[in-house]
Amino acid sequence: MNPFFSQLGQSVYDLWKAKDFRPALFPEIAKTCLQKFAPSKRVDLDDLISNFLLDDRQPYQTSSGFGQPELIVYENTRFYIQILFWLDGTTDIHQHGFSGAFHVLAGSSIHSSFNFTQITPVTSHFQLGDLKLKETQLLETGTTVMIHSGPSCIHSLFHLETPSVTVVIRTHSDPGSDPQFTYLPPHVGLDPVNNDALTTRRKQLLDVLEAAGNEDYGPIVVKMLKELDFERGFFILQNCVSTLRNLGCWEKAWAVFLRKHGPMALPVLPTLEEIIRRDGIAALRASVEDVEHRFFLALLLNVGNREDILKIISSRFEGSPLATISRWGEELLRITESGTWLVDALFPSEIGNDETRHQGVFLAAMNHFICGQKPSPELRRLSKTDLESLGQSLHDSSWRNLLPEKRSSSSKK
Ligand SMILES: [Fe+2]
Repeated sequence: MNPFFSQLGQSVYDLWKAKDFRPALFPEIAKTCLQKFAPSKRVDLDDLISNFLLDDRQPYQTSSGFGQPELIVYENTRFYIQILFWLDGTTDIHQHGFSGAFHVLAGSSIHSSFNFTQITPVTSHFQLGDLKLKETQLLETGTTVMIHSGPSCIHSLFHLETPSVTVVIRTHSDPGSDPQFTYLPPHVGLDPVNNDALTTRRKQLLDVLEAAGNEDYGPIVVKMLKELDFERGFFILQNCVSTLRNLGCWEKAWAVFLRKHGPMALPVLPTLEEIIRRDGIAALRASVEDVEHRFFLALLLNVGNREDILKIISSRFEGSPLATISRWGEELLRITESGTWLVDALFPSEIGNDETRHQGVFLAAMNHFICGQKPSPELRRLSKTDLESLGQSLHDSSWRNLLPEKRSSSSKK
């Protein structure tokens, strides 16, 4: 048993008991104690790890899959303290069925909070609505944040260092706050615990057909979409969208889903597009080793507006954030068999096929549309239509959140 966390837990217990264990007061008490005990200043991570590995006198450990891993360092019947290690970058956008507070013990994180409004429940485990970003902050080591159960506290964390470590003081569960929805921006909320085993097996079986190159893949998915209810149809679309697009079957599959479910289906399309965008950036990030590039891709993945992205870059790097972005863009530019890519923006094929010019033109377009520079001579030589195509390509990619407001809102999409 780690004596530091025993004292921290006892302190929380005493304060909460003095307030008759009123649930609404727990987040504030947990936050106050974390700030007072300051684990980031007083806990030596190496000692903590040694103690856990070598001393059998540890609190009861759950089989939770949360954290990488989760260690429980204090527990009683009302609440417990967990240490969460994070090796991957990100958590889903989620709410909680518990309350308390967390403290960044090591590393730092991008923390985004959201509102989910205009809710239309489809089933008890699946909702449509509008997920809007409220705020993004950079949480440095030592920061403490309260957690409230239910939809008032929807958030995501992207951990920038490996490992990042957080201390969480939390209740076991807050009655009435289930399910603990996870959100797929911009329009879907779902209960990740509600696993429909039949749908899971069907998705896996479709993956087998895909891997085998089976010609029936597209037609059978279309038949399924004609039969399935909204929720299960969504999960099949989510699983199959990329493959259907590669097979040229996407338009038909979407038309079937839209015809079957009418206007209720409309929020699904931007949600699937955002899933594809996020998967693409996450895959690119996994292939990139440069620390600054990984940081920039994390921002594109997680921060929804230009102002916050520039603010966070300024907090970490000297000089103009736009100049830094311009440099990162140039370093991240790559040429593949499918064309010239600026992160996930593809150089428009209609602008000639002189590939030797693509890189310079694309970077000039980025410097113009994103960084506000005057059009370079190579941009001035382009037709108005070609220049608009370049702007549209940036808008249709993760650069969209970096476009100044005017271009972003006036665009067609
Ligand atoms: Fe959380």
